[in-house]
Amino acid sequence: MENKTNMATASQMVFDKSRKKESLNGLWHYAVDQYDTCISQKWYEENYYDNEGNLLPVDYSFDEWDKITLPCCWNTFNQKYLLYEGSMVFTRKFYFEKQSHDEKVFLKIGAANYLCQVFLNKKYIGTHKGGSTPFYFDITGFLLHDNRILIHVNNTRHDGQVPPSVTDWFNYGGIYRDIEIIRVPEIHIKDFKIYLEPGSSFKKIHTKITLSENVDSTAVLEISGLNIRHEITVHNGKGELVFEAAPVLWSPDNPKLYDITVTCGNDSICDRAGFREICVKGMDILLNGKPVFLKGISCHEDSAINGKALSDEERIENIRLAKELGCNFMRLAHYPHNEKTAQLADELGLLLWEEIPVYWGVHFNSKDTYEDAQNQLDELITRDFNHASVIIWSVGNENPDTDDRLEFMGGLAQHAHNTDPTRAVSAACLVNYEKNAIEDRLEEYLDIIGLNEYCGWYTADFKMLPLLFKNSSPQKPVIISEFGADALAGHRGTITDKGTEDCQAYVYEKQIENIRRTDYIKGMTPWILRDFRCPRRTAVTQKYYNTKGLVSADGKRKMAFNVLRGFYKSI
Ligand code: GCU
Repeated sequence: MENKTNMATASQMVFDKSRKKESLNGLWHYAVDQYDTCISQKWYEENYYDNEGNLLPVDYSFDEWDKITLPCCWNTFNQKYLLYEGSMVFTRKFYFEKQSHDEKVFLKIGAANYLCQVFLNKKYIGTHKGGSTPFYFDITGFLLHDNRILIHVNNTRHDGQVPPSVTDWFNYGGIYRDIEIIRVPEIHIKDFKIYLEPGSSFKKIHTKITLSENVDSTAVLEISGLNIRHEITVHNGKGELVFEAAPVLWSPDNPKLYDITVTCGNDSICDRAGFREICVKGMDILLNGKPVFLKGISCHEDSAINGKALSDEERIENIRLAKELGCNFMRLAHYPHNEKTAQLADELGLLLWEEIPVYWGVHFNSKDTYEDAQNQLDELITRDFNHASVIIWSVGNENPDTDDRLEFMGGLAQHAHNTDPTRAVSAACLVNYEKNAIEDRLEEYLDIIGLNEYCGWYTADFKMLPLLFKNSSPQKPVIISEFGADALAGHRGTITDKGTEDCQAYVYEKQIENIRRTDYIKGMTPWILRDFRCPRRTAVTQKYYNTKGLVSADGKRKMAFNVLRGFYKSI
């Protein structure tokens, strides 16, 4: 049951990186709302009395309900909710004091899976669809001194959604990233982009500023590390400037970040950004003008203990493992991960492939589904635009090549190019099995062709692998975005015993042997860093986990970890 009014979309996002935030994380009351009674009976209006003042029987007791610590996934918060799919209601009270007469106040939710309806002081605020991107509501006019917020989240899978109802990962539910209140001046900096101007021989920086109102003003941009201070004329709420600069270029080997401040009127924001150029030239992927081989690994946002709500330690451990493998690249599959991962990648020097969950068979013929996908892409690009680590936007994964899919994903790829001319656009495509070749009509819309191939795992042997690479003549660089094999950590046997570490290691050896001698392959992100929860994997050696990880969910390395590290250290 969904209220379609006041849908939160990318257009309502507010630049907030450096802004003071008041956290609403912590203890909330909650209840399972299997029949969406909270919505149908309007619990949020708290009608305790009839018009004559007589007490009415109600079916909720907000402040006596059990408590849950948000953000979290309800599935890992309590084992009894592990497989619960449906709605939950979360509520808490909080105090609020206006600090200035002209301030505006936004509620920001970092992510809630999947359909999220927000109520404040008995009033409907708005709805967001999409399980992995942040959303904002202007709550200025709804705040009191004593407030009650109520948030209704439903994680039921539907084919018309993005992702669709069947995926190869676990459908966690809940508000699993930060919940914050953000105060901004009435006229504030709503969006701020800064990047190295492509094709400027790394000598020009381009910046764009968007204000919350279409007013004329002057902004001042300062980059202390470059001794730069520029005034930017803002007309009708928009300011743009391209200026000479010679920044130390950001790269995985030298993740140089600059502190940037922008002031405009009585608003001021800061950001820490790196300056680098990524582009595709012929069959090469160029980072700062030099060909780069993307030594990557795929990664889900999944933790046995915390579901999608990874702790900072778990996030850092995943990146540390990738660095230990010798990676300069990571594929954040199959949906936008927490922005903190991009922040860490900026600081620690890792290139990122970020992706929206247009996964397998979405409703490619549905306008609503396309709008949902495009909004998630816009929310991701708006959120991560200034992260130098992000070099590729992926518009999907393993989608059957049909006319509807071509129009849907071609449209997303074009939209990504139009929205962000500074990055490459890709998708994880399937092998054209009729021709045993890398051949997908979507390629014309992509800068880089992602290819998922599981030769040696989902095929009886490796015979087709050299033929696949030999049969293909891609006109753009290829990243092998998935190959791999299941292995239960500690399970040993021969190289043909599927499910053993020995077999997984052998698959990596054979894959690497073929990839390393194929010139048009410019990167790889084997599937996958860590075993992850997956309801489709019930074998006795899987126990509801996809065990293609190089590391088990509880941190045990497998033999293939060293095979991949050996290869990456050798190039
Ligand atoms: C597919 C898919 C992954 C999945 C993997 C597997 O390529 O993209 O999401 O987990 O195969 O079969 O393990």
